[in-house]
Amino acid sequence: MKKLVIVIALGVVAYVGLGIVNIIFGTPKDTTLSKNAVDDPDFHKVALALERSCMNCHSSETKMPFYAAIPGAGHIIRHDIEMGREYLDITTEMNGGGGAKVSEVALAKTEWVVQNGTMPPIQYLALHWDGALSSQEKQDLYDWIAKTRVAQFSPKGMDPAIASAVVRPLRKVIPTDPAKVALGERLYHDKRLSADNTVSCATCHPLDKGGVDGTPTSKGIRDQWGPINAPTVYNAALNFAQFWNGRAATLEDQADGPPNDPKEMGSNWPEIVGKLNQDQEFVDQFTQVYPAGFSKETITHAIAEYERTLLTPNAPFDRYLAGDENAITADQKAGWQLFTKLGCSMCHVGEILGGQSYEMVGRKADYFKDRGTPITEADLGRYNVTKDETERYHQKVPMLRNIAQTAPYMHDATAPDLKTAVDIMGKYELGTTIKPKDNELIVAFLNSLTGEFQGKPLQ
Ligand code: HEC
Ligand code: HEC
Ligand code: HEC
Repeated sequence: MKKLVIVIALGVVAYVGLGIVNIIFGTPKDTTLSKNAVDDPDFHKVALALERSCMNCHSSETKMPFYAAIPGAGHIIRHDIEMGREYLDITTEMNGGGGAKVSEVALAKTEWVVQNGTMPPIQYLALHWDGALSSQEKQDLYDWIAKTRVAQFSPKGMDPAIASAVVRPLRKVIPTDPAKVALGERLYHDKRLSADNTVSCATCHPLDKGGVDGTPTSKGIRDQWGPINAPTVYNAALNFAQFWNGRAATLEDQADGPPNDPKEMGSNWPEIVGKLNQDQEFVDQFTQVYPAGFSKETITHAIAEYERTLLTPNAPFDRYLAGDENAITADQKAGWQLFTKLGCSMCHVGEILGGQSYEMVGRKADYFKDRGTPITEADLGRYNVTKDETERYHQKVPMLRNIAQTAPYMHDATAPDLKTAVDIMGKYELGTTIKPKDNELIVAFLNSLTGEFQGKPLQ
């Protein structure tokens, strides 16, 4: 009995001691976040709060606490910290001091976990009595996030009340040069970009079918099948990088890919330029706009310029966001609420509801094991570009604009329909089972994301 009292007393002393030590020493201070923020009072407040409440676990900059070395409890702490860093690195993704560019997804995730009270974790608060954010700090955080969205991600002139939300209406135009667009449109449909003159960009990205071929993977020249599902070209200009693994930074870089890919178009620029130069009428038209004539640079530029016009604004959901309460049905509204409540909007953010980050496929459960087929090179995703182990199986989060038109879904096309895709997202990305009725509502919402191209609803 006496022994037990002593053990409990020692436990209490150790716990209180650790709590006090943590208040005094246990908070990362003077990280680059707060240092960069000194001239930006709004962000400085936020930086200090994040340092205290989050950055022990969510920063590549902060060190493990000394007790992480203790076996047992220390192991749990180390695991939390390592995992926390993989989920969100505040130092690299939210370093908004002096107006520096931040990740739109990091903003959405941070806002969501704080609004929903899921972070910091309970075991952290047990050891860090000052770890929670005060309601003032939360408000400062929300205000800064709203302000940053307006400043960094929204088109100029958009009503700030609309522009500051996690998801925004799609812009109607990106400025382009019409003469270049016209040439790009022609090249986009030109089969001479392929070795045997059978395949154009439009073969795999037909504009009358949502900008996709509708097959699990794509068929290129000589009936060769590729390794991955084709994403749409509609609104691709608003992706933060191109391809599932982001290996092309711009649309221009992207357009250099297919013509040289042995399975897609199987050609090369000297061959393509040679063929186009035999078409005197096209040469004359092209050199009026691009005096340098046909080349990799001018051809990819023209195609990219055309792709920047492939926007599909005015979806029912856009009209709803802009204030028309009747633009979508009651079910679609309920689906939209579930979409934000469940946390889909942590990754499917912004104007195109995605396209702004890479995420691990199977964050919360082993997707590839359950799929049951061998891992392919394409499954490795972002890892193929960076060779960074922490990015193995990471793919770009696809946009959800016009999603009803672009089945099958996922990089590996495992989901034949939206219902399956939504269930997969619940299980593997959010770690939850989505109820059948909720699934129906979310699918109804996804159907409200089909927009208009050149004034007509996409078919
Ligand atoms: C004790 C370490 C720890 C602290 C402190 C902590 N986190 Fe986390 N955080 C984690 C771990 C571990 C995960 C991944 C597993 C999970 O979701 O629980 C995570 C996940 C997250 C995610 C991803 C959530 C998701 O579902 O994708 C976000 C965003 C996040 N944390 C933000 C924060 C913010 C903001 C704070 C401060 C207010 C914070 N965290 C404090 C450990 C921590
Ligand atoms: C043989 C079919 C095929 C052809 C031809 C083809 N593509 Fe693609 N396209 C794909 C596939 C498959 C992907 C995904 C590849 C990946 O991510 O690794 C893709 C990706 C893209 C993307 C990236 C979209 C995103 O969300 O990341 C764009 C943009 C694009 N193609 C435009 C073009 C243009 C422009 C051409 C003509 C120069 C073209 N494609 C020719 C099949 C094709
Ligand atoms: C952690 C980030 C994350 C969250 C949260 C998330 N998604 Fe996704 N979503 C992804 C990624 C990554 C993919 C691509 C997976 C793949 O290619 O295999 C994807 C794919 C999709 C697709 C298929 C798109 C296509 O073109 O193939 C749909 C539909 C979708 N998500 C809807 C949702 C819904 C609905 C929710 C909420 C229930 C949700 N997502 C939550 C990251 C996320």
